[in-house]
Amino acid sequence: LAKVEVDLATIPEGKNLVIKWRGKPVFVRHRTQHEIDEANSVDISILRDPETDAQRVQNPEFLVMVGICTHLGCVPIGDAGEYNGWFCPCHGSHYDISGRIRKGPAPLNLEIPEYTMDGDNLTIG
Ligand code: FES
Repeated sequence: LAKVEVDLATIPEGKNLVIKWRGKPVFVRHRTQHEIDEANSVDISILRDPETDAQRVQNPEFLVMVGICTHLGCVPIGDAGEYNGWFCPCHGSHYDISGRIRKGPAPLNLEIPEYTMDGDNLTIG
């Protein structure tokens, strides 16, 4: 199956990269320390799909997710929504800076694809 390689050094801190993998968008965000702290400050008992940030990342600086809303499959917009993460404009789902669903109709957090990280080399798939 096709793998995609990404050089993480090309993504500035606080920015998203969107790539295509198996015909799907994959979001890679280089998170700031503030964003990492925010992701870790959430009480997961209040979450619809409870996951710690640590369960969703290999390296907290880089969040890697499939960019498909878990409601009905639209592509969420980055740097948007009420939780400083992603917002799906189709029916109003708000995801946080860990890609966890916080508000709106989506049932699950944004999916984490299979990947490996070796220094600045990210391999998706
Ligand atoms: Fe994203 Fe419905 S497809 S909220």
